[in-house]
Amino acid sequence: MLRDRFGRSIEYLRLSVTDRCDLRCTYCMPTGFKDFEEPGDWLTFDEIERLLRAFARLGTRRVRLTGGEPLLRRHVTSLATRIAAIEGIDDLSMSTNATQLRRHAQALRLAGVKRLNVSLDSLDQACMRSITGRDSHAQVMDGIMAGKEAGFDPIKINMVAMRGVNDGEIDRMAEFCIKHGFVLRLIEVMPMGQTGRNSAYLDLQPVRARLQQRFDLVPQALELGGGPARYLATRDGRSNIGFITPLSQHFCATCNRVRLSVDGTLYMCLGQEEKFEFRPLLRGGASDAELEAAIREAIELKPQMHEFSARPEKIIRFMSQTGG
Ligand code: 5AD
Ligand code: SF4
Repeated sequence: MLRDRFGRSIEYLRLSVTDRCDLRCTYCMPTGFKDFEEPGDWLTFDEIERLLRAFARLGTRRVRLTGGEPLLRRHVTSLATRIAAIEGIDDLSMSTNATQLRRHAQALRLAGVKRLNVSLDSLDQACMRSITGRDSHAQVMDGIMAGKEAGFDPIKINMVAMRGVNDGEIDRMAEFCIKHGFVLRLIEVMPMGQTGRNSAYLDLQPVRARLQQRFDLVPQALELGGGPARYLATRDGRSNIGFITPLSQHFCATCNRVRLSVDGTLYMCLGQEEKFEFRPLLRGGASDAELEAAIREAIELKPQMHEFSARPEKIIRFMSQTGG
């Protein structure tokens, strides 16, 4: 078991397989951004598998493929197959924007990806265009339906709620998710990079109270999937709405995760600078024992909590560089 200095057990790795994306969400990657990682610095599938085996020997049980947009990494399905086969890893999931999901859904499912999180901030074509910078609505909706047809369960819909941008659509999104059996999660925008800081923050506490009344929802004691979301459920227990509130009610005390970016940097917290570089070890002939020792050393660096409220200017990297 990996335990950090604060007694938290770290059993979840979020793995960014590319820092590129085909969308330019206003709160994430700046338009015109060119400063991507060099392909030569991306971890290869062999390097990723070797490092993940070391994590698994130390108790990592769950892996999520992220990006950037993970479906843009060539042959990502074969990587998924390799990760799903690692002894000890029993939960493999992916976060995607769904633009390419129609093409990949079935293969991903067969590869052993069980659960999907899809970013969807609006159901309106024009609003989607203005948030994502592309006319992505039709493709994304089709991708989501392909995910449903392929049998991913659950499919969680992640909606970053922004004041004056899509807050008027929250109820409609809740109805859409209830109708399709998706789990809606509303997310507070985090001040990551200039893009995140420029976004119109919306406190989700009043939204939560309003939705609870409107849909007659009951608070859930249990978490779904071991993440930071706090859930409300419909009376029939069939639908859940989650609230991810890093600012209005943070959840750092139960944080169970670290993030490996595409270049082999392990980020210990979304909202802090602590990190550990694994690429030099992987390319410098480190033994398995040395990799394990390095992972333990890295986990020691994990900070207690983010400082999004106290020091919103602190994090200059935006989400797709860390791995969302
Ligand atoms: N704040 C909150 N969430 C963000 N994402 C990207 N940037 C931010 C931000 N600044 C999340 C969104 C998106 C996923 C890929 O990353 O949830 O769905
Ligand atoms: Fe791409 Fe996700 Fe960032 Fe949007 S939020 S630009 S979909 S990585």
